[in-house]
Amino acid sequence: MPKLLFWIHPIIQLVATAMAAYALWLAWPRVLRNHWGQRTTFAWNEHVRWGKWAHILWMAGTVIGVAVVARSWGGSGATGNHYWIGQLIMPCIAGGYITGVMMDREKKPRRYLPLVHGVVNLLALAIAAVQVVTGSQVVREFLLP
Ligand code: HEM
Ligand code: HEM
Repeated sequence: MPKLLFWIHPIIQLVATAMAAYALWLAWPRVLRNHWGQRTTFAWNEHVRWGKWAHILWMAGTVIGVAVVARSWGGSGATGNHYWIGQLIMPCIAGGYITGVMMDREKKPRRYLPLVHGVVNLLALAIAAVQVVTGSQVVREFLLP
């Protein structure tokens, strides 16, 4: 497999993580409103758009990472911690996306669902941040000359 293909996954994941951080930045005024009663404006549609792209890219990037390793290194798990921590992001992405779509489809005051959505997405972002560190080690060990 050409070496260049190994770079697709790290680049997609870095872009997706930056998009997720931006989605969180956009959502912050909503947190202040929902939980601290402040009067703020929330760029609802923009948050949904950036959040959706972040999730779709994270999901696609993870599948590509697994596929590249499985095809060229004869099975999954060669990257150790990076592989295992990577598995944890999938349920967070699914949970964050489903709760987001539910709230976007039917807009109404809610108490618990925004909180569940926010916590699950924060967890996904934290996992992604850890993966930047463990992924850099994989890059240094396997991709760089
Ligand atoms: C990584 C990506 C995302 C992050 C970090 C994120 C984070 C957040 C946070 C922190 C809140 C405020 C929750 C609260 O006040 O308790 C929020 C609200 C919201 N998010 Fe996201 N989100 C993401 C993706 C999405 C996606 C993909 C959708 C839709 C498909 C979405 C739809 C919404 C909606 C509609 C609200 C407002 C809920 C309400 O206050 O009624 N988010 N998000
Ligand atoms: C959301 C963040 C990320 C997730 C969930 C994730 C997940 C994964 C998974 C599951 C694999 C397959 C590992 C195996 O089967 O042993 C993989 C491979 C790999 N990951 Fe990540 N990763 C993320 C971010 C990153 C980042 C930021 C980098 C680099 C800075 C990186 C570098 C790599 C490399 C070099 C591979 C080997 C395969 C390839 O290059 O396509 N990953 N990743």
